[in-house]
Amino acid sequence: MAVPTDEEVVKLPPPRLIGKMSVEEALAKRASVREFSREPLSVSDISQLLWSAQGVTRSWGARTAPSAGALYPLEIYIVLPHGVFRYDVRHHSLIRHLSGNVMVALAQAALGQGCVRQAPSVLVIAAVYERTASKYGSRAERYVKIEVGHAAQNVLLAAVSLGLVSVPVGAFQDQRVKEVLNLPANQEPLYLLPVGYPAKNGKP
Ligand SMILES: Cc1cc2nc3c(=O)[nH]c(=O)nc-3n(C[C@H](O)[C@H](O)[C@H](O)COP(=O)(O)O)c2cc1C
Repeated sequence: MAVPTDEEVVKLPPPRLIGKMSVEEALAKRASVREFSREPLSVSDISQLLWSAQGVTRSWGARTAPSAGALYPLEIYIVLPHGVFRYDVRHHSLIRHLSGNVMVALAQAALGQGCVRQAPSVLVIAAVYERTASKYGSRAERYVKIEVGHAAQNVLLAAVSLGLVSVPVGAFQDQRVKEVLNLPANQEPLYLLPVGYPAKNGKP
């Protein structure tokens, strides 16, 4: 089942905690892939990917990725052909953030990269630096960027274990991405992760 086109809040199915692939196999298979089939991700795939990025794993609120001082500066969005959704970590839900298709505009903001334009979904990891700076001051910049790497690697490995492919994208115009996604002023986009099923015979 794909994400419904008309709903403002989409409750995601609980993440599956047992997969078909070992961590070792996912590590060995992970590679940047930049061509995708047009097949949309299922709600279940999206649930697994978002949970891998920032899902809650402990009753006190700990998440799948570590965070300096447990201050959790990251916000995750998923860009789909019919809208942009924010991941509500606590409720494991999608909250509609924008309606309409911004994939082409997002690809333009990412220097025209075909992998962003072609993917059926793009996860965006943004950060609110103040959350970490409130405790760690000027050290926050370092910590937040380390945390983005943790979250992104979780997604890349989860994608492999789901039979999906992805590529981490850091080459984009920050301000353009912020505008295209209408991010709040205090959220900085740090990483784009186009994700989809592999192109059949290497062709989209
Ligand atoms: C911080 C960072 C930024 C990257 N940005 C891009 C990008 O903008 N576009 C792209 O196609 N690949 C990007 N990559 C992917 C690298 O090109 C890729 O990881 C590298 O060629 C090694 O290949 P592998 O990922 O298959 O091991 C980025 C990787 C990292 C770690």
